[in-house]
Amino acid sequence: MALERIFRDVSKLSFDYIPEKLVHREADLKSLFTIFQTVVSHDLPQRAFITGSVGTGKTALSKRFCLDFKAFASGKGKPVDFVTVNCRQRSTENAALLKILMHFDSNFPDRGFSTPEMLEVLRRHLGQRGLHLFVVLDEADVLLKKSGSDLVYSLSRLDEERLSPKGRLSLIMISQKWALDMLDPAALSTFKRSNTVELGKYTQGQLYDILKVRADLAVQPGAVGDDVLELISDIASEWGDARYAIELLERAGVLAQEADQDAIEAEQVRAAKADTYSVVTESKLEALEMHELLALLAAARVLRKGAFTTTGDVEKTYAAACEEYGEKPRGHTQFWEYLNALGASGLLETKASGKGTSGRTTVISLPDIPAGELAAQIEGMLGKK
Ligand SMILES: Nc1ncnc2c1ncn2[C@@H]1O[C@H](COP(=O)(O)OP(=O)(O)OP(=O)(O)O)[C@@H](O)[C@H]1O
Ligand SMILES: [Mg+2]
Repeated sequence: MALERIFRDVSKLSFDYIPEKLVHREADLKSLFTIFQTVVSHDLPQRAFITGSVGTGKTALSKRFCLDFKAFASGKGKPVDFVTVNCRQRSTENAALLKILMHFDSNFPDRGFSTPEMLEVLRRHLGQRGLHLFVVLDEADVLLKKSGSDLVYSLSRLDEERLSPKGRLSLIMISQKWALDMLDPAALSTFKRSNTVELGKYTQGQLYDILKVRADLAVQPGAVGDDVLELISDIASEWGDARYAIELLERAGVLAQEADQDAIEAEQVRAAKADTYSVVTESKLEALEMHELLALLAAARVLRKGAFTTTGDVEKTYAAACEEYGEKPRGHTQFWEYLNALGASGLLETKASGKGTSGRTTVISLPDIPAGELAAQIEGMLGKK
């Protein structure tokens, strides 16, 4: 019974729950409908790209869109279906294609078929069913980095060589980084820049609204006050990350239950922050490449001595860290990209300063992470590699 004192339906806080309405993403949802309207009006496929940093609702938006669009299209007599591929789990062309084919045939053999053969099977499925299929490539940057843009190109071309007048395929790519830059020109030409939906970090007020809706579904009436939701949204707004906000609410709720209370108090939010903090950071760190880790380690080491630093200082320390771990330092442009990637994932704050002594400078700081702790955590990870 203790469980029900705080939560009425904890599943509404889980990652796979897709909210009926995504507050503050209505305009983005509408943009996607506008981009893909030709699917219904002219049987014409489209491609779109969703970008934004961690927890800005990219995955949730794509799922909401696919479900809503499928219902809308079926109302117009157009059969639409969709399949989502997580490219972090399936980072090769064949692994991604296999996921798509298994949507139609769960027994499709996981070996023995070449890529062109698999594409042919897919084309046949679409033709036979007269379906318009949405393929969502989530975390597409991982696939692009590992396997290049051939799959994106082939999926785009699948349509142009259509054998049946009905089977067609639209593509949605999702990435934290600006993955369009990773496409080669042939694949890029199938994407229009205007078909990009860029999700900004959530503000404190937006996070509050998201939490409010979620709390009404998941938490007992009266078990979480507005002041507590304010506090959670305030903490999470440093990252602009809705996932972190929801995690904090859930964790604080569990702690309130354990303390045998009828409501979540601010104290449990603070304790939840201390708890989830390292977990959130750890999963973010695990997603980084070797040199992104080294660049972050360098920033953490420099920032042990002060609140702010600059690119130049971090780059020097990065070179030293590379030497320490037997790695060859990457060039300046590449290093710059690492910093941008770290900024996008919320692990670093990067801000262009007006006019520095050497022209354009970037000011770097850590968002609410103790520098010493972060450095020690990365050193621990690198030690194991
Ligand atoms: N506008 C919103 N309204 C309600 N819930 C939201 C909203 N945006 C995000 N969420 C919730 O926040 C969590 C994180 O969202 P999501 O997984 O879509 O983020 P993401 O941008 O894909 O992050 P990542 O880059 O880590 O993959 C999910 O539980 C999602 O349901
Ligand atoms: Mg996601």
